[in-house]
Amino acid sequence: MQTLIEAIKDAEKKEVAIGHFNISDIVALKAIFETAKKLLVPVIIGVSEGERNFIGVWQVAALVKSLRDEFQYPVFLNADHTHSIEAAEAAAYAGFDTVLFDGSALTVRENIEQTKLVVRKLKSINRNILIEAELGRIGTSSEIREGIPEGAAVKPEDLTKPEEAVSFIRETGVDLFAPAVGNLHGMMANAPEPALNIKRVREISQLLRIPLVLHGGSGNADADFTAAIDAGIRIIHINTELRLAWKKGLDKALAAYPAEIAPYKILPDVVSEIGNVVQRRLKLFNKLV
Ligand code: G3H
Ligand code: ZN
Repeated sequence: MQTLIEAIKDAEKKEVAIGHFNISDIVALKAIFETAKKLLVPVIIGVSEGERNFIGVWQVAALVKSLRDEFQYPVFLNADHTHSIEAAEAAAYAGFDTVLFDGSALTVRENIEQTKLVVRKLKSINRNILIEAELGRIGTSSEIREGIPEGAAVKPEDLTKPEEAVSFIRETGVDLFAPAVGNLHGMMANAPEPALNIKRVREISQLLRIPLVLHGGSGNADADFTAAIDAGIRIIHINTELRLAWKKGLDKALAAYPAEIAPYKILPDVVSEIGNVVQRRLKLFNKLV
C-alpha cells in the first residue's frame, strides 16, 4: 500500500497536486472517498481540531483506516491546524498520517521552538508520520467573509519570505511546508479571492527541498491553481467550498422531501453536492481534463 510520502513523490514526478478535503462527518467522507476512487487518485482527508473533536479523534482515524484497508486505497488522514502539542500527540497516537502544527499565530521564534518540539515528540511516537508547519498569516476560519481576514498577508512584503522559509525548515526539521502566498482561509461572499502570488510560490519552491502545501484553496481561480501546481505546490486544501455544498445539499433535500425522516434517504443529496465540488477540484489538481 502506498504511503503518503510515496503519493507526494509520485505527485512531484507527475507535476500534479494531491487534493486535501476537510470533513465534519461521515457523509462528507463518503463523498470525497467515492469521488477520489472513481477518478483513481490519492486523496487526503483533513480534520481541524474542531472537526475531529466533533467526530472523535480515534473514530475518524478508524474510519479512514477502514476505507484504506477494505479498498486497499491511498486515502490519508491529516490532523489539520493543530495548535497544541497535546492535540498533535493525540493525533499521532490515533494513527494519523500527518499533522499540521499551526504556530502561525506565534512569533517566528516561538513557532520554531514549538514546531521543533512537536517534530521530536511525534517522530518518537511514529517515525513515519509527516509533520507540516505553517509560516505566515492566512486567516483562521473556513467561512464566508465580507473582506480579507484581519491581519492576513496579501501584500508581497507580508507574504512568506523564501530565506525565512529555508531557515525555518532547517531549524525545525518538518516534512511539509505551508507558506502564505496570497492564499486565505475562507471565501469572499460577493467577490473573487485575491490572486495567488505565483512568483513567490516558485521562489520558495526553488529554495526548499520539501513539498509545499497550499491552504485556503476555496474560491481561487482554476488558472491560479494550475500555475501554483506548476510552480511547485503538491497538496491543496479545500474546506469552505465543501461546507457550502454540504449545506446546499441538505437544504435542497429537506425542501424536496419535507415528510422524509430517514437520514439515509435525505443525505444522498449532500453526498452528491460535495462529490461535484470534489470531482471538479480533483480533476484540476491531477490534470485529468
Ligand atoms: O486547512 C484547511 C484549508 O486551508 C481550507 O481553506 O476553507 O479556504 O478552502 P478553505
Ligand atoms: Zn488551512
